[in-house]
Amino acid sequence: MKRIAVLTSGGDCSGMNAAVRAIVRSCLASNLEIIGIQKGFQGLIDRYYEVLSTKSVSNVLQRGGTFLQSARCKEMYDEAGQRLAAENLAGLGVEGLIVLGGDGSLKGALALAKRHVRVIGIPASIDNDIPFTDMALGVDTALNNIARAVDNIKDTASSHDRAFLVETMGRNCGYLAVVSAIACGAEYSLIPEEPFDLEAICQELRRRYQQGRSNSIIMVAEGAGNAQKIGEQIKDKIGFETRTIVLGHYQRGGSPTVFDRLLAARFGQAAVVNLLKGEHGKMLGLINSRMVLTPLDDVIGAGIRPIDKLLLRLANNLAI
Ligand code: F6P
Repeated sequence: MKRIAVLTSGGDCSGMNAAVRAIVRSCLASNLEIIGIQKGFQGLIDRYYEVLSTKSVSNVLQRGGTFLQSARCKEMYDEAGQRLAAENLAGLGVEGLIVLGGDGSLKGALALAKRHVRVIGIPASIDNDIPFTDMALGVDTALNNIARAVDNIKDTASSHDRAFLVETMGRNCGYLAVVSAIACGAEYSLIPEEPFDLEAICQELRRRYQQGRSNSIIMVAEGAGNAQKIGEQIKDKIGFETRTIVLGHYQRGGSPTVFDRLLAARFGQAAVVNLLKGEHGKMLGLINSRMVLTPLDDVIGAGIRPIDKLLLRLANNLAI
């Protein structure tokens, strides 16, 4: 193997740059040429790329986002786009591809694997909805961003006897809302995986208000409903004055945490080492603190990673 390529795809997340740096450095240490495809699969179809060197990845480790840039590429869902992407890789003399991204990007990676591209996927998405990994890259940084925001919100909420609905990202996965509820002491986390009874929640919040609590925080995963609308529904029923904040893309950026930097380094190095060993058509995951490969077919076939019931129970037990 002489030349491999890397791309970052889908929603960016913190740690992508650190992972690309680890990939570049691991390649150069093994005398492999490494090219960076710009703008994800779109760049692969349109042939936007650059040869990467240590200089290309100097001073990027601590930066959020992705210097290679990313895109959501509709053409990769079509046979024609997939064929062109595979042909372009062959034309560039690329013998192995590393794809960083979430479920859509890993589907793209699988499509290429089925066209005989030797590909390794790295789970990178703040949603933590990818199965066969305990954590995806970027999740820890997003959680820290959310925690910082909620801590600030609690200061102002408790100064005014207010309840805040805080909407987190995550698509159809409630992981960010549940974990941040535990980490920030929120009263509730409304998530798509679990039904919730808004009337019962209102009664309980009113009881707490009457007991003299100074604030309430309700985390709302975007997949569970629109926090603004839920806020409108409950505002006259809970005693607390109500405000809503949608954290949005704020969650995705910023300097990666040490956890994400370390995970990026491990994923990046393991991707190169495994390609060199002849592994392909697989996704790396962090399972019980170890790097584990799982066939992309299994990853995609498993659908969304289910929410951990123990986490849910912990959030409920601590929110009395
Ligand atoms: O998948 C990552 C994610 O941030 C989701 O949590 C969110 O729903 C979506 O991407 C937002 O996508 P975009 O950046 O295209 O608006």
